[in-house]
Amino acid sequence: MQLASKVAVVTGAGQGIGRAVARALAAEGASVVVNDVQAAKAQVVAQEIRDAGGRALADTNSIATMAGAEALINACVAEYGTVDVLVNNAGVLRDRMSFNMSESEWDDVIDVCLKGTFMCTRFAVRDMRARGTAGRIINISSRSGLRGNVGQANYAAAKAGVLGFTRTVSQELAKYGITVNAVVPRAVTDMTDSIPENVKKAKDASWAGTSVRKRGTPEDVAPIILYLALDESSGITGQVIGLGGDKLSLWSHPTEVAEAFVFGGWNLETLRTLFKTSVGYQLQSVGNKD
Ligand SMILES: NC(=O)c1ccc[n+]([C@@H]2O[C@H](COP(=O)([O-])OP(=O)(O)OC[C@H]3O[C@@H](n4cnc5c(N)ncnc54)[C@H](O)[C@@H]3O)[C@@H](O)[C@H]2O)c1
Repeated sequence: MQLASKVAVVTGAGQGIGRAVARALAAEGASVVVNDVQAAKAQVVAQEIRDAGGRALADTNSIATMAGAEALINACVAEYGTVDVLVNNAGVLRDRMSFNMSESEWDDVIDVCLKGTFMCTRFAVRDMRARGTAGRIINISSRSGLRGNVGQANYAAAKAGVLGFTRTVSQELAKYGITVNAVVPRAVTDMTDSIPENVKKAKDASWAGTSVRKRGTPEDVAPIILYLALDESSGITGQVIGLGGDKLSLWSHPTEVAEAFVFGGWNLETLRTLFKTSVGYQLQSVGNKD
């Protein structure tokens, strides 16, 4: 019961990773608001938690709207008096090549994954600051946001945005004792069902010959969320931490891999020379590799 007396909100908790996280938080004693637009699923997860002796409230607001995000946080405060932990987990995919992507496919993903993260954070932090709560914000990002992924321009942009948001808000909230971290999960869920089998097989093949599981279950992801939610994790903020199956990764923050200066500024000739020599040798390929 390491989170007894804590109050947590988990968005998109009707299934998958969010469900596992909500159940794990409740098993450690937290009161949990189980948010999901799939109303029946949110109700089922809240009931599962109550049946196991925990405290849970189902909430069916869409976090893709400002009004929905505010109503979610207000419902949490009305029921449990405060909000200590916010897990911005809700996500959707609308995969298509960027040159064929529609406006609504772009907007749907940005609204849920990026704008929803901002809006829920905004309202939760308003409550945390007012009460002097040393809150915990945990944002779910993706490898697509770190390294890009073909067919996911909308999702990669949103999840990369989540990382920029995390780094910025962690700095803004440090003086209030509120931590903000990003988790990059990997688990077999309904969402990964849309990954073509041949791609999944190709990725898993790279792990052949080892007993390591890199694509685990939603329950495998939950412990890192629990750990970041603890009081003792007050020193961890602005970080990007991957967890999938047996593998945990701490991601670097973007750093310059090469620097060069020329007195008076650059021109085509000095740039050409540079790219054909030192900087050119340091160009890195990008792709969603392990
Ligand atoms: N499964 C993976 O391997 C993986 C990898 C990288 C990132 N992620 C991220 O992890 C998170 C959870 O993914 P998952 O695999 O469990 O997916 P999932 O599809 O099983 O669950 C996502 C949940 O979010 C809910 N949701 C969607 N829009 C919502 C809205 N507007 N308001 C409230 N709820 C909403 C859905 O109804 C669904 O229950 C997502 O942010 C996803 O992008 C997952």
